[in-house]
Amino acid sequence: MTSYRIGYGEDAHRLAPGLPLLLGNITIDDSPHGAVAVSDGDVVLHALADALLSAAALGDIGDHFPPAEPQSVGLSSETIVARALELVRARYPGACVVNAALVVTLDLPKLGPKRQAIQARVAEILGLEPGGVGLGFKTSEGLAPQHVQARATILLDWP
Ligand code: C5P
Ligand code: MG
Repeated sequence: MTSYRIGYGEDAHRLAPGLPLLLGNITIDDSPHGAVAVSDGDVVLHALADALLSAAALGDIGDHFPPAEPQSVGLSSETIVARALELVRARYPGACVVNAALVVTLDLPKLGPKRQAIQARVAEILGLEPGGVGLGFKTSEGLAPQHVQARATILLDWP
């Protein structure tokens, strides 16, 4: 019998001019601003890592990768997602991600032209076909122009 668990995560960063903006490890090259962060500030991958951990009720990335600890410094966000998946599989052997659904809230720039690239990269990281990753974009309607946020849900199954 197949069992299922859902997971949810989110992350946000402040934006400042002249910094890189990474979403799903894709550089948004036409962005006038980027995330202010000690990490690479990739809100999509951080929200995904939290969604994976939440599906297994394993806390969040701050528990497993405390920013103050030397072994967390310089960890790429892709590595954090990969390690989150390993933790989930240690708890639920054979677990697979069925699909992921993501929403990024950002006023500027328009992200539509980057949708395919972000979907493909996130799918690759999770071992899914690109169709396994839904990706939506929203503005804040001008309420939070210096803010980038991602929300992620995932579904896990295991035998
Ligand atoms: O937030 P709002 O509903 O006004 O967004 C309208 C559309 O603009 C969204 O459905 C999305 O397709 C697109 N969008 C985008 N890039 C963003 C924000 C929104 O492509 N940064
Ligand atoms: Mg609208």
